[in-house]
Amino acid sequence: MVPVADKWPLRRAARRDLKALCELQRRTQHRFWDLSTWEIEYERDSGVIWVVDGPREAKIIAYLVAWRVLDTVEIVDLAVAPDYRRRSVASTMLDTLAVLAAASGASQIALEVAENNRAAVGFYENRGFQHQGRRSAFYADGEEAILMSFELSDS
Ligand SMILES: CC(C)(COP(=O)(O)OP(=O)(O)OC[C@H]1O[C@@H](n2cnc3c(N)ncnc32)[C@H](O)[C@@H]1OP(=O)(O)O)[C@@H](O)C(=O)NCCC(=O)NCCS
Repeated sequence: MVPVADKWPLRRAARRDLKALCELQRRTQHRFWDLSTWEIEYERDSGVIWVVDGPREAKIIAYLVAWRVLDTVEIVDLAVAPDYRRRSVASTMLDTLAVLAAASGASQIALEVAENNRAAVGFYENRGFQHQGRRSAFYADGEEAILMSFELSDS
């Protein structure tokens, strides 16, 4: 079990979770990976995949994928199943990530988010992330990305 989170306990994903993660991403994201990409992420030495199990049913209700790149922890993907939103599930994952990233010596958490994803931008703003600029045509369909980051020394 990953420490810190109590209300929504996190655990590292196991290989047997990858199919469910692939399905949850398809349900929650406009852009998604195939199963082989999830397997690559699972094997990545510098990455981590956390999941939150549902409180009753045996299914995954949220996940976070992050990479360590030098002194930065990069959030690659993060999603919560629709029925569990606005219940602090994503906040719990992010707070846990911040504690563990700071403890490991990272100086910031960074991410790119699609500029029309108002829920995600609102979420990261609420959690104290700052806008750092934009990257045009960041996604394959030409959509622009907003770059955001959180300084761990501020936490
Ligand atoms: C963005 C997302 C992860 C937020 O998850 P969540 O568990 O609902 O977030 P939390 O409950 O921890 O929200 C914390 C705060 O963030 C802000 N927030 C969350 N969702 C928001 C929304 N849809 N619009 C505006 N602000 C929002 C609010 O301030 C919220 O606090 P409040 O509920 O007390 O008002 C979720 O909506 C999601 O899975 N979206 C689809 C996947 C996605 O876009 N991922 C981002 C990839 S970069």
